[in-house]
Amino acid sequence: MFSTQNLLAIAMVAVTAAVYGGVSAQTSNCARTYTVISGDTCDIISAKENVSTFQLATVNSAIVDPACDNLAVGEVLCLGIVGQDCNITDVVQSGDSCGLITDATGIPLSTLLTNNPNINTDCSNIYPGEVLCTSSQVFAYGTS
Ligand SMILES: *[C@@H]1O[C@H](CO)[C@@H](O)[C@H](O)[C@H]1NC(C)=O
Ligand SMILES: *[C@@H]1O[C@H](CO)[C@@H](O)[C@H](O)[C@H]1NC(C)=O
Repeated sequence: MFSTQNLLAIAMVAVTAAVYGGVSAQTSNCARTYTVISGDTCDIISAKENVSTFQLATVNSAIVDPACDNLAVGEVLCLGIVGQDCNITDVVQSGDSCGLITDATGIPLSTLLTNNPNINTDCSNIYPGEVLCTSSQVFAYGTS
């Protein structure tokens, strides 16, 4: 017979497998991963790992809530999906505009907007600390 302790251990292994099974399914096609450390926020991670705010949120939408207030130290995030991983980024500064960003990076506004679907059409909702994909390559998010 199993002792209560053994049953507890078995239950914990099952829960752990379920949790990490979910993560590995999500990250099976992952180009880059990152392990959360103390003090991280989504935009801090985005800035230091060259991943856009939009891409980080979208790729991890199953485990990170939209407000990004449920990060756990030690949690493994996928930073980008193979073939859809923009790794050329720019952190929005105070006073920035899409015009300043496209001038500085030399990319068309249409590319900036396509690669950052969270920016509204008049570009009035960018904020300091937000991380934008500023690659000249157009990424087809959500189409594969
Ligand atoms: C992020 O990009 C900058 C500028 O290209 C580069 O210097 C830095 O090494 C990159 N960091 C990572 C983690 O890839
Ligand atoms: C950025 O992504 C390209 C492929 O899109 C890859 O060749 C390159 O090594 C990546 N650079 C970094 C610093 O991850």
